[in-house]
Amino acid sequence: MLPDIVEIKNGVYFTGAFDPKIRTFDIIMKTANGSSYNSYVVRGSEGVAVMDTVKKEFSDDFFARLERVCTYDEIRYIVLHHLEPDHSGALIELMKRAPEARLIISGRAVMMLKGIIKTDIPYEIATTGKIISLGDKTIEFLMTPFLHWPDTMSSYLHEEKLLFSGDVFGSHYYDERLFDDEVGDFMYAFQYYYDHIMRPFKQHVLNALELYRKFDINIIAPLHGPILRTNPMGYIDKYASWSSQSKFRKNELGMKMLSVFYISSYDNTHKMAEKVTQGADSVAGIRASMYDLASLDEHNMITLLEESDAILIGSPTINGDAVRPAWDLLSCMAYLESIGKIGATFGSYGWTGEAPEMLHERLRGLKFRVPLKPLKIKLIPTEEELDGCVVFGREIAEIAMGKMIEMELV
Ligand code: FEO
Repeated sequence: MLPDIVEIKNGVYFTGAFDPKIRTFDIIMKTANGSSYNSYVVRGSEGVAVMDTVKKEFSDDFFARLERVCTYDEIRYIVLHHLEPDHSGALIELMKRAPEARLIISGRAVMMLKGIIKTDIPYEIATTGKIISLGDKTIEFLMTPFLHWPDTMSSYLHEEKLLFSGDVFGSHYYDERLFDDEVGDFMYAFQYYYDHIMRPFKQHVLNALELYRKFDINIIAPLHGPILRTNPMGYIDKYASWSSQSKFRKNELGMKMLSVFYISSYDNTHKMAEKVTQGADSVAGIRASMYDLASLDEHNMITLLEESDAILIGSPTINGDAVRPAWDLLSCMAYLESIGKIGATFGSYGWTGEAPEMLHERLRGLKFRVPLKPLKIKLIPTEEELDGCVVFGREIAEIAMGKMIEMELV
């Protein structure tokens, strides 16, 4: 059966593919409602542009839709906003079928093109402000890197006030009714997508929104999920709010946030955590708080990590390792930016005491500044050792406030 053809705006057609059965995307994302790989065709008076392709396994659906809206010799441009395989999977075959088409990618996509396509194909590089014309249709490019890969760009179709946003504003949500006012309630998927794909790149999101706001947008065509035509600025505002809110509390209080995460089996690491927190909180400009990892769920871990300027992790050593909640905490950094954050580790131990060093190395690998040696105490801390914990907390807090130390152990 031939697929339905949907004209999403005058001369702009949906040529994507639906994947209702996918349940995990990119390893980390659950996709209870499946997904779609959106592609579009823009038809102008002087030719056609294909905006992205689909995942390779769905190429047949893509070509079936494409062939219903244009012939291959009409295609003048193939635009890839982002080269991840869910959007570039049908590129090689499309270029074989449309050999006269000019491929347009961002400058940062060049290395990825070589890595993914594994063959030399001609391309042209788009930059912000570059325009291509299809006669009565004009497409302007906007560089929006890191959303979700470094290569990502967006484009704006002037005559239809249509933003091709790449992964930005996407949702993993399959619904063939396509438009946001006709599909089911996808807002959970819209926010979940933001949290897992965009949240680590908040500043890049804000930069992209600034570019978008220069245009009068009345429809947004993302690469996944519903097409957004009901109050597009509302979606832009949501992204703006989510990308700014972690700064809200510290801006309101005018303080730096220092979080002490700990887990303790015989209360010894807990005692250390209390003293470290006490020392840190004594520094002007620092608000220190402590959290028991045994009772913190992932969502709260992510929020606290994001809001914290400095992070201290205390763990005992069990079988030569830090305990699992400490590793779970650090795995949450996959959703966040760590550049500029300060880290330190501590813990009580019985025999070998590797945990603080192991966590220290992991923090360093995550690009935290780790200026202090891990603090380790054998079994039950003495009063003197607890005083040392206060000093340790104070010192890391002072560094968070800008104190320079002679030589950082990085
Ligand atoms: Fe939908 Fe980042 O690819």
